[in-house]
Amino acid sequence: MDKPNIVTCTAPVNIAVIKYWGKRNEELILPINSSLSVTLHQEQLKTTTTVATSRSFQDDRIWLNGKEEDITHPRLQSCLREIRRLARKRRNDGGTAVDSTCLSHKVHICSVNNFPTAAGLASSAAGFACLVYSLARVFGVEGELSGIARQGSGSACRSMYGGFVQWVMGQQDDGKDSVAQQVELETHWPELRILVLVASAERKPIGSTSGMQTSVQTSCLLKHRADSVVPGRMVEMIEAVQRKDFPAFAELTMKDSNQFHATCLDTYPPIFYLNSVSHQVINLVHRYNRHYGETRVAYTFDAGPNAVIFTLQQHVPEFVQVVRHFFPPETNGGHFIKGLDVNNADLSEEL
Ligand code: DP6
Repeated sequence: MDKPNIVTCTAPVNIAVIKYWGKRNEELILPINSSLSVTLHQEQLKTTTTVATSRSFQDDRIWLNGKEEDITHPRLQSCLREIRRLARKRRNDGGTAVDSTCLSHKVHICSVNNFPTAAGLASSAAGFACLVYSLARVFGVEGELSGIARQGSGSACRSMYGGFVQWVMGQQDDGKDSVAQQVELETHWPELRILVLVASAERKPIGSTSGMQTSVQTSCLLKHRADSVVPGRMVEMIEAVQRKDFPAFAELTMKDSNQFHATCLDTYPPIFYLNSVSHQVINLVHRYNRHYGETRVAYTFDAGPNAVIFTLQQHVPEFVQVVRHFFPPETNGGHFIKGLDVNNADLSEEL
């Protein structure tokens, strides 16, 4: 009986504080602007993927959250093709792949998320990062892999690193310089805390891929944002992170989220990702900060209504109480707060 070669890996979600929205090349997934995110800790919102290769497998196959999906999806095919190409190159260059015989074998991939899929919680980012990393392990490939994860889903390239990560848009047509780079380690800012306020765990009505396509075609605000706003904001954001300057980090984060959702409204027909709960959360954060005369809390929203809140450890208990007061758990129809951080402790107990 042939023994399968098997690997299991996990990859965490990342939360963009300077958003990626819009591609200049759909096939290679090359963005129109650079972006920056914070990768959560491994044990929090994450994907777990098991990849096995075996001589007895007839076809490549994939199961997502227990349901078999179409392996011929072009993005899955790009990732599989690129990893196998690197594995062959490594073998031909004289490197030892983990088990070079498995190169000709088919793969079975099994992937599960511990959070709602496609609810604007960056499930594709963790999913493709995990897929690429697991495939690389099983085929014995090492080195720069974020350029391959990028071809699965743009934001996935940033989940290949922990801590604070930038995705440099790059200039080349072949995308070789469009890769993720770690800006600071996950241990850099231990007081930083992330809360996720789930306003709806439903699938988003318009996925990021098609939403950003329509925005690129129709929004002149998006063009202005990519050409004239994001380049300066990236520099300021990296400096704020390096200085651990929370007010600067928070203001840039909120402004960037607001501008991203403004480009969604400027898209024709418009795209609405935020709902009334999201708007209430935005107002609450601004009222809270105004009350203290300083920026203690920030929000950001991706392609969905769920708020991701950034704050510092010392403000968590009070802000959570405030959220509980305005969104009581028994009346909020299933909204929940989950405390996360970029470092180690899971705060959900405390909440
Ligand atoms: C709003 O990476 O999901 O979360 O590259 O088409 O797969 P594709 O899009 P995706 O878009 C993420 C958009 C965002 C912002 C961000 O994560 O930077």
